[in-house]
Amino acid sequence: MAQVTINGKAYGFEKGEKILQVALRHDVEIPHYCYHPSMSIPASCRICLAEVWAPNPKSGALEPMPQLKPTCQTDCTDGMVVYTDSPRSIANQKSVMELLLINHPVDCPVCDKAGECYLQDYSHEYGRGQSRFLEEKVKNPKKDIGPDILLYSDRCIMCTRCVRFTREVTGTDELMVDGRGDREMIDVFPGKPLDNPLAGNVVDLCPVGALLDKDFLFQQRVWFLTKTPSIDGLTASGDNLFVEHNDGKVHRIKPRTNMDVNTWWITDEVRRGWKHVHSESRIRLPRVRGLDAFEPSQAAQAWKAGLAKAQGTVAGAVNAGKRAAIMVSPMLSCEDAFELASWVLSLDPKAELAVGPVPFAGEDRTFKGGFTMYAEKAPNARGVRRVLEALSARRGGGTVHDAASFAAAVRAGAVGAAVVTGNYPSDWVTPELRDACMHLPMVVIDTLENPLSAMAECVLPGATWVEKAGTFENAKGRLQAFLRAIEPIDFARAECQVGADLRAAFEGSRAAAVNPAVVRAAMAKVPGLERFATDVHVPDLSFTQASDMQFAEV
Ligand code: SF4
Ligand code: FES
Repeated sequence: MAQVTINGKAYGFEKGEKILQVALRHDVEIPHYCYHPSMSIPASCRICLAEVWAPNPKSGALEPMPQLKPTCQTDCTDGMVVYTDSPRSIANQKSVMELLLINHPVDCPVCDKAGECYLQDYSHEYGRGQSRFLEEKVKNPKKDIGPDILLYSDRCIMCTRCVRFTREVTGTDELMVDGRGDREMIDVFPGKPLDNPLAGNVVDLCPVGALLDKDFLFQQRVWFLTKTPSIDGLTASGDNLFVEHNDGKVHRIKPRTNMDVNTWWITDEVRRGWKHVHSESRIRLPRVRGLDAFEPSQAAQAWKAGLAKAQGTVAGAVNAGKRAAIMVSPMLSCEDAFELASWVLSLDPKAELAVGPVPFAGEDRTFKGGFTMYAEKAPNARGVRRVLEALSARRGGGTVHDAASFAAAVRAGAVGAAVVTGNYPSDWVTPELRDACMHLPMVVIDTLENPLSAMAECVLPGATWVEKAGTFENAKGRLQAFLRAIEPIDFARAECQVGADLRAAFEGSRAAAVNPAVVRAAMAKVPGLERFATDVHVPDLSFTQASDMQFAEV
């Protein structure tokens, strides 16, 4: 294999690979700002320049190239030798850093990007350490360039990543370079704000603090955040992401690179769709019809009464010769579906099984760069159906309903009691479902209050996807596990834990804390669910990054 030597170490490369790409693939750091693997290579920031030697095609002797070469744009050739740590390369790095900082306000103490800013990091690694610029700095303005994004032009280093993103990835062309020299600035075209479904990615792309997310502005210093690898819990994309949180509160969601799923991006609906996690309308304690509302100090008693009422409601219908039913929301994990449905089937082996309403908005949309935004706004419709169908086949068959046929079965009087789960980020109960369930004894397990929870015999508080671990199956049938980022709010419990607690109560025992990996192992023994032993993509735990600074109480 052809080889290139970078700073004394030889690496193999594929034809057409750039020096920087080979270096990044082998974790060799070469500073770079304008290069991003998803976009064209302008080689404009010049920080990646290096001294390059190559064999003379005639004599074969190794000769230096006359100028420093941009490693992001220079193809590797066999026998090439690259020095990013030679005196000439180092002098260039220092000069570029000095130039970039000439007009920079150096307002790190009030900048959201501080702590994850490449200008800071490279300044420390490759900069001069002090400024020789005595003249007045050019002061470029701060601008509101879209519904969610601010531009602090004075911090911009003109890498043009953001401009190329809107041209090459989204194809929406909102951003441009206006002016020349030290007056040049990023801007939006008049009357065309930065407003597309992927717009938030420019904040991640920006190597400095020039593009800022209004939602996160001044909310939290990034070094206090813990990053937990997770999966999109709102749509069928299965996008890989980080939930970034501190002290039990989610502060932002960022994309996690996975070239098999979402490459480098997530949609804004996924990025900003987590607000219901901390909603005032969260259900926080079990509630039982006919009993006074429980106080937080009575949480254990509330759960005991709630589980007993749930058990009594379903078992009562079965004992009266009627059918039990369970409608599992496509917002729940496969493990949630398995535990809850197993409990209902243990009470009534012929129970009606259904997948809850699957919300859609518009049609799938694929952007210029190939990223697809899914119209299906539920993370696990396929996984829930897969689990329910396997359990149904194991008991000898029977239809797994969708929400409409479930409502029809209830209306036809075929159901004596039902367990209904929600966990949607907003209103989800359709008028048909509400009317059909009007007189049905129900156990509702949900996160937000809704018309069904108002009518239920008992309401049990469930946990949003960031508050539990589990597995989702995305639109392409890929099974992906996600980790719990924060503890469930107040006295809520993960639905698979509720299912295990109910099953244990039915068997007269006490449920242990549920481990989703153990549930998956049990699921894999059910014919039709063998994939859960072999095909689940589990996030690399080394991705979990704890806060590197603890608050000190003084
Ligand atoms: S705003 Fe950020 S991403 Fe855009 S050109 Fe400036 S530094 Fe680069
Ligand atoms: S990264 Fe090579 S010139 Fe900018």
